[in-house]
Amino acid sequence: MESPFKGDILKGKVALLTGGGSGIGFEISLQLGKHGASIAIMGRRRNVLDSAVASLHSLGIPAIGFEGDVRKREDAMRVLESTVKHFGRLDILVNAAAGNFLVPAEDLSPNGFRTVIDIDSVGTFTMCHEALKYLKKGGPGREPSSGGTIINISATLHYTASWYQIHVSAAKAAVDSITRSLALEWGTDYDIRVNGIAPGPIDDTAGVSKLAPEEIMSKERQNMPLFKLGEKWDIAMATIYLVSDAGKYVNGTTLVVDGGLWLSKPRSLPKEAVKKLSRAVEKRSRDVGIPKSKL
Ligand code: COA
Repeated sequence: MESPFKGDILKGKVALLTGGGSGIGFEISLQLGKHGASIAIMGRRRNVLDSAVASLHSLGIPAIGFEGDVRKREDAMRVLESTVKHFGRLDILVNAAAGNFLVPAEDLSPNGFRTVIDIDSVGTFTMCHEALKYLKKGGPGREPSSGGTIINISATLHYTASWYQIHVSAAKAAVDSITRSLALEWGTDYDIRVNGIAPGPIDDTAGVSKLAPEEIMSKERQNMPLFKLGEKWDIAMATIYLVSDAGKYVNGTTLVVDGGLWLSKPRSLPKEAVKKLSRAVEKRSRDVGIPKSKL
């Protein structure tokens, strides 16, 4: 679909995206780039980074990929420093890296719970914390009175309660809280706007294949408000709204982009099917990685 925003709305801006090499993160990289931004992507898999950067280059978008794990503070510091060294400044940080799998709480080990909290919540805080010196007003390459902006990708799972996602619900609740606290403190002190986006089920993503697979969700899909899955494009457009001047008075909010789905009551999922699928899907994604067609 054609973007409703002007093509140069982000001209001169530099964005760093964690998890920006695949899925929703890649679509955000692509659309920010198409609207004038230079793109740095941080991710764990070199092959995913290389293929994402090649796609962006083929469209004439300045882009670079850095290997790194948001769970490691030294990786966060190195990638942020390298981004600013390469592009001269940082205007936009998008925290899109996340870990997830569907599992009944009774089968989830404390380490499994901690792993997702470490990636989603602590990883988001770490990236924000280490990015502060670049994003604050007067930071390197920045105007003395204008700060940058942060987008934290969240979810709607914790607005009610979600079946078999206790770890992600807890992690994203923390992410939303981080968004609000930083918006308050850093908006006031440093002119940095911090917002979130909570996507619903988005077609052609690892999120949907892992968390709402056809085998388990086919009946649910018929009951969705708007009767359809979202597109990665929907999340990218919400991002452009929030990071551009279109959203210049929006701070500390998490924008829900789910067609209204979270308003409907959570329905029970068949536990035995989830148990079987959980490990199978995880194994599949580890064995084969994310196919190029899904990037
Ligand atoms: N069901 C139950 N527990 C699981 C699991 C599953 N499907 N997958 C992983 N775990 C547990 C492991 O058993 C382990 O706990 P243990 O040591 O007590 O056994 C813990 O989680 C960590 O697993 P590990 O394989 O060491 O973690 P990792 O760092 O290699 O992988 C994940 C992290 C598990 C989140 C992995 O799914 C991932 O990296 N995903 C990134 C892509 C993604 O999911 N994106 C989100 C799309 S919505």
